[in-house]
Amino acid sequence: MAPVRDPNTQSNYDAWRTRHTMADFAVDFAAKCLRGSVVIELESQTDRASTEIILDSSFVDVADITLNAAPSKWEVKDRTGPSGSPVHIAVPDGAGKGEVVKLGIQLATTDKCTALQWLSPAQTSNKKAPFMFSQCQAIHARSIFPCQDTPDVKSTYDFVIRSPHVVVASGVPLPEATEAAGDDKIYKFRQNVPIPSYLFALASGDIASAPIGRCSSVCTGPNELKASQWELEDDMDKFLDAAEKIVFPYRWGEYNVLVLPPSFPYGGMENPIFTFATPTIISGDRQNIDVIAHELAHSWSGNLVTNGSWEHFWLNEGWTVYLERRILASIHNNNAYFDFSAIIGWKHLEMSVEEFGADHEYTKLCINHKGIDPDDAFSSVPYEKGFHFIYSLDRLVGRENFDKFIPHYFAKWANKSLDSYEFKQTFLDFFSTPEYASLQGKLAEIDWEGRFYTPGLPPKPEFDTSLVDVCFQLAGKWKQKDFSPSSSDTSSWTGNQVLVFLNLVQNFEEPLTVEQSQSMGKVYGLADSKNVELKAAYYQIAMRAKDTSAYPGIVELLGEVGRMKFVRTLFRSLTKVDRDLAVKTFEKNRDFYHPICRALVEKDLGLAEAESS
Ligand code: BES
Ligand code: ZN
Repeated sequence: MAPVRDPNTQSNYDAWRTRHTMADFAVDFAAKCLRGSVVIELESQTDRASTEIILDSSFVDVADITLNAAPSKWEVKDRTGPSGSPVHIAVPDGAGKGEVVKLGIQLATTDKCTALQWLSPAQTSNKKAPFMFSQCQAIHARSIFPCQDTPDVKSTYDFVIRSPHVVVASGVPLPEATEAAGDDKIYKFRQNVPIPSYLFALASGDIASAPIGRCSSVCTGPNELKASQWELEDDMDKFLDAAEKIVFPYRWGEYNVLVLPPSFPYGGMENPIFTFATPTIISGDRQNIDVIAHELAHSWSGNLVTNGSWEHFWLNEGWTVYLERRILASIHNNNAYFDFSAIIGWKHLEMSVEEFGADHEYTKLCINHKGIDPDDAFSSVPYEKGFHFIYSLDRLVGRENFDKFIPHYFAKWANKSLDSYEFKQTFLDFFSTPEYASLQGKLAEIDWEGRFYTPGLPPKPEFDTSLVDVCFQLAGKWKQKDFSPSSSDTSSWTGNQVLVFLNLVQNFEEPLTVEQSQSMGKVYGLADSKNVELKAAYYQIAMRAKDTSAYPGIVELLGEVGRMKFVRTLFRSLTKVDRDLAVKTFEKNRDFYHPICRALVEKDLGLAEAESS
């Protein structure tokens, strides 16, 4: 038995592997919990060598576990750090290699569940119904049900969900059966493509849907439906066409987008069949839908071909950012869009490296995850350093050759998980055939170990700056103290061009004066922008300028969006200029934030209590 390669699971998945999972839950909005059962089918990997199955769990209330429908001996062990409380189930006779055993687990989630957020009707936009949603990546699925919570194991799923409100899950919806007790309806979904536990997803609430493409709908609250449809309908099929041309046809059937309430902690989450997305992408100008190109790209990188552990997370995100940029360049029919997005990404990478320190473990492409919570290691590093590594390979072998490698890689590893070394081997094997003889010298020079384990910034390539030159020019003018701005400076720009400009100003050696900051906000319409990306970037400049007149707007924004990209960066800056205001604002909005966001901001602000284990 090879030891397990994922340090963030306590499950013994070397001995048993989940093949199918049936989740049968009632959504109890009054008690704010899911209750019901999961039936997990596990295949023995050894010939009776293991007489125990160990699953991950975290704050789940387990009532009973049966083994092949008979009573079993089981125990939930004590918590050990971020990994949670392993559940041990005795399998007295073991099982022959390839034999399948069935665990039936009766459970309810608890108020300490880190994956679920429960919103009261008052916290939703039409105030009519409560809302709940899950976020399982990276290791939160174990707080919904005991499972082998590792991206190294994939299972097909059946969902049978009872709820008084519409349900969405990470499977293909089956015709709905209306019979159920009380107000509940039963919603069924099936996921026939094996998926890792972190892609398990559920949401329920007052959800309506409208078509946005040939196999796509957008789902969201009835009040937001029209705007959400408008935002996405023009580009959805274009994204899909572009992605299919770069990799190979989409394998999941439908691709839908669920636009969540504003406390959704990420920009997007690539839950299969239903990408979950922040409402901040619905900005009324189609300027923030790159997120959808990104989540769609995960249908190949991440969802079909998956990182074998969170130490190799760059394989998910670096590849996805690369595909996202290829998709954007393709739909604009202009390669400068690829570089433009990469320039913005480079800036994010620099900020992450600066935040951690250039020698920090978390600035490596492959990060040691032993004993750490993957949420703590999360940053732009796997995205952008991962992107730069993939892009460097693309440039090394040439676009035409790399374009042949892409479908090969995704077909070879489809429905499997891999680590960085398997990636290396796949790449080298592909280019080892005689037709690539002329590349051998270059291939031998790739410093794989250096790429995987050197902290800090990777080598910076030359970018095509044609879309950012105007941003540099305007930023240059702002360096001159007597510059008088006009709204026409930026009125014809894309949102991302304004963002690059703001990032440049943020990096000035000297902060802006209070007057400059105020005039920038007013003249360019930043403080009132519906584009949260721009508003948040502007507020960073205002805080650096110590422009206290901007603080009420910052506080207001922190009560309106729960996307961590904005919330964490705004709090980090706010606490530097006005600690009391930061703490007060956090406490006021504590219930509004998703548990994952709440926990991370608590740590960022130094408010977290040490975990008792
Ligand atoms: N899979 C990620 C979100 C994620 C990562 C959730 C790690 C939990 C743990 C998703 O695909 C993502 O990268 N979202 C980005 C979108 C952006 C890069 C376009 C986000 O949320 O900002
Ligand atoms: Zn992603």
